[in-house]
Amino acid sequence: MRADLSTITAHRIIPVVVLNSADRADGLAQALVEGGLPVAEVTFRTDAAAESIAIMVRRGDVLVGAGTVLDVEQVHRALDAGAGFIVSPGYNQAVVDECLGLGVPVLPGTATPSDVTAAVNSGLDTVKFFPAGAFGGARTIKALSGPFPQVRFIPTGGVSAETAGEYLALDCVPAVGGSWMVPAGLVDAGEFDQVTRLVSESVDAVKAC
Ligand code: 3PG
Repeated sequence: MRADLSTITAHRIIPVVVLNSADRADGLAQALVEGGLPVAEVTFRTDAAAESIAIMVRRGDVLVGAGTVLDVEQVHRALDAGAGFIVSPGYNQAVVDECLGLGVPVLPGTATPSDVTAAVNSGLDTVKFFPAGAFGGARTIKALSGPFPQVRFIPTGGVSAETAGEYLALDCVPAVGGSWMVPAGLVDAGEFDQVTRLVSESVDAVKAC
């Protein structure tokens, strides 16, 4: 399912998922659906990523993108698996160009004004801000918004249930990304009731923002 940015950010949280085994992909997807957050960025940090994306996409009830996409070859592997959007940790012009050429939504990682300039010059108006916690958090996003008032930032990296609200209070932040509601340890162990609870709590916390 090809996504658009407003659909990707509609729930205001993008769960960032590390799946060490594709055997857990369906259970995780079910937990996201039951918890009320049917969207996931499945990171290409593990060999299970492409197969996991395919399993989750096949269900038809979760919007699945690929994260930690580092090169054009991974863009194609992700899209072949059915990913609806592409996320990268850093700004990679080749990845951005490939996605734009294919009409695929792309959220490149940015951390500096130079990164944001490159994104704007490519015609993008929404970027990932990574690693958000280590790079100054909401304060840095506010500072970047000065010269880039048209840009929307999706902070990811070190975002937690406690800090998500600080980011979401900014007009230029449509959503945050994070793994706090889908901890790899619980996913690996198949503890999906606990994952559902964490997902549901994060959805409630965002509603309260
Ligand atoms: C990412 O790739 O976006 C981050 O690793 C997610 O960061 P977190 O695990 O600190 O939420």
